[in-house]
Amino acid sequence: MNVLVTGGAGYIGSHTVVELMNAGHEVIIADNLSNASADVIDRIEKITGKAPEFYRINCCSEILKSIFARHRIDAVIHFAGYKAVGESVRMPLQYYRNNIDSTLSLLEAMEYGGCKKLVFSSSATVYGPDNPHPYKEEMPALQSASPYGWTKVMIERILTDYVTAHPDFCAVLLRYFNPIGAHESGLLGDDPNGIPNNLMPYIGRVAAGKLEKLTIFGGDYATPDGTCQRDYLHVVDLAVGHLRALEYAMEHSGAEAINLGTGKGVSVLELVHAFEQANNMKLPFTIGARRDGDLPAFWADAEKAKKLLHWEAVHSLEDMCKSAWEFARTH
Ligand code: UFG
Repeated sequence: MNVLVTGGAGYIGSHTVVELMNAGHEVIIADNLSNASADVIDRIEKITGKAPEFYRINCCSEILKSIFARHRIDAVIHFAGYKAVGESVRMPLQYYRNNIDSTLSLLEAMEYGGCKKLVFSSSATVYGPDNPHPYKEEMPALQSASPYGWTKVMIERILTDYVTAHPDFCAVLLRYFNPIGAHESGLLGDDPNGIPNNLMPYIGRVAAGKLEKLTIFGGDYATPDGTCQRDYLHVVDLAVGHLRALEYAMEHSGAEAINLGTGKGVSVLELVHAFEQANNMKLPFTIGARRDGDLPAFWADAEKAKKLLHWEAVHSLEDMCKSAWEFARTH
């Protein structure tokens, strides 16, 4: 099958491209490299033995249409988008313009190319602050705490409306929890520009001695050890989830939201200690003030993914911590 992957050079995108290629699919990547490096394409080739087709482009309508004119695309996985929560609060217009426009352009290009299968990169952030955990797909998921999160809510809405108008279209809305870890080859991982916002890349830089110490944001939450709990899952499990979602989309129509998480909550302190134990080191940290916008605890109800996609996360927290360190150590 020919699969167009927008944002295929990014952290989750690149791992998904590897799984797609290993499963025998032809992959065409569209990525403007705004938050990724061209080296990733070479590394994907090293891992899979084959270079994916790569277009360095912005996801605007005319250019995407030209890709559909050149290739018979059977399905699309849409990762492309800005994703930094804090930045989105400072730059809302750029986030709405980029994330919404690129999705609308993609849908227009898919219509032009007669392609009716889409897997979209959504987020647990759409459950907003009011739902109890574990989050279930049938809960109201129509709000968020940041412009970034709102773009996910709005795009879910756009895709749902699109499916209403085109009942033979399938849109799988994958709501990710917290992906961490790296590819076993050590060639792909989470390597953000500048000082990381997310916990695991920050831990990696502290472990590598590039940052002095980790600040844990808040130690006084109403959780078992006072630090926030999240549902951390291995990025390779998440990538495999996309493959299953694609297989599902090929057989179905309609819009379907599906959580991809482990179903377990892990606290920041537990993750820090798991990292220390897995990699036999001490990690300097301090407990600081709460970070604005953080929810105390959430994790997935992972049953729907099991039932519809026959997918569940298989990697352990130890695998996540070891692979994350292997990548951080060598990059
Ligand atoms: N944390 C720290 N110190 C740090 C960084 C993070 O203590 O230096 C803590 C946070 O307070 C939070 C936990 O680590 O409790 C995880 O934080 P991340 O920034 O790694 O992840 P978030 O859960 O905040 O955000 C993730 C995704 C977003 C998504 C959000 C909600 O990065 O894209 O989940 O689904 F919107």
